[in-house]
Amino acid sequence: MHGKVAVLGGSGFLGTHVVHAFARKGYEVKGCSRTSGVDARDENSLLTYLRQAQPDMLINCAHHGGGIAYNARNPVAIFEDNLLTGFNALRAAAQSGVRKFVNLMGNSTYPGALDLHQESVWWNGALHPSVISSSMPRKAHWAQGWAHHQETGFCSIHLVLPNLYGPGDHLEPTRSHALAALIRKTWEAKQAGADRVEIWGTGKPIREWLYVEDAAEGIALAAESYNEIEILNLGSGRGCSIRELAGLIGDALDWRGRFVFDTTRPDGAACKVADVSRMKSALGWFPPTGLREGIHKTIAWFLSHNSCVLATR
Ligand SMILES: NC(=O)c1ccc[n+]([C@@H]2O[C@H](COP(=O)([O-])OP(=O)(O)OC[C@H]3O[C@@H](n4cnc5c(N)ncnc54)[C@H](OP(=O)(O)O)[C@@H]3O)[C@@H](O)[C@H]2O)c1
Repeated sequence: MHGKVAVLGGSGFLGTHVVHAFARKGYEVKGCSRTSGVDARDENSLLTYLRQAQPDMLINCAHHGGGIAYNARNPVAIFEDNLLTGFNALRAAAQSGVRKFVNLMGNSTYPGALDLHQESVWWNGALHPSVISSSMPRKAHWAQGWAHHQETGFCSIHLVLPNLYGPGDHLEPTRSHALAALIRKTWEAKQAGADRVEIWGTGKPIREWLYVEDAAEGIALAAESYNEIEILNLGSGRGCSIRELAGLIGDALDWRGRFVFDTTRPDGAACKVADVSRMKSALGWFPPTGLREGIHKTIAWFLSHNSCVLATR
């Protein structure tokens, strides 16, 4: 089905790559967001846009959130903005002739106590308190999609992604995630001739990382071929400890110092890794970029954008 695709949040980190992934497949694809005049918190703004653009598919990459400290300071705005944005997007899609809606969410929508994220246990436990405001709206959007599917057969799919990294990642201290923050800190240590970089926690927690171009390709593929209301994990299914990750980044930057772990700081969950067997059978696909290769590509992007990075300090 080649046709028109609208990417809400198409100017963001993931959205930019999703726009490119659909364009590579031959779709007519447009991104929209507040900067292009579409504020999805306002249903009329979105409906007007969709009635004019008439896309076949709407991909929701819009997001309000930041790093741990930002999220802890702004839970009300994060909850309300994400709830309203996704709610309006799905509702406006169903009302304006869109044939498929794609809801994207992080693996923090899984119960906080679970190590292995299997689709069948997505509802089996409480969210970690630190992610309630950002993750509960996504679960509500799944319920909204389920209700539309029950009543009218409207098709929405709901994809769960692990931590993303790659070109275009946020490097500002208030918005960055662990991998981008580590690249920046290690590079800054190298520039300053420092021989140590401090990392919060023991370095033992295991996390899964998905290269953002692979994530975008998987999303485009799922949008084309996956039609079930049941959620679907996208990822590599492989975990890496923070200590190993730091080692890979230090090697890639050719930095000879050492990482020091501040064990007085909390670790968070011990392990967060997806079971991707349904992804492999449903899409016949596996993300092609290994972590080492992805880190090298991300660092190449980071180094070529040094001046912008420094401007955000
Ligand atoms: N980044 C990750 O590691 C990660 C991991 C797993 C899942 N995800 C999922 O991926 C999606 C995108 O994340 P991201 O990291 O790409 O976020 P991001 O870089 O912060 O981008 C957010 C996008 O949303 C747009 N936006 C924000 N508020 C809006 C509104 N009210 N109306 C319309 N557009 C709005 C922003 O553009 P304007 O400022 O122009 O409005 C921007 O284009 C989210 O669903 C997130 O849960 C991300």
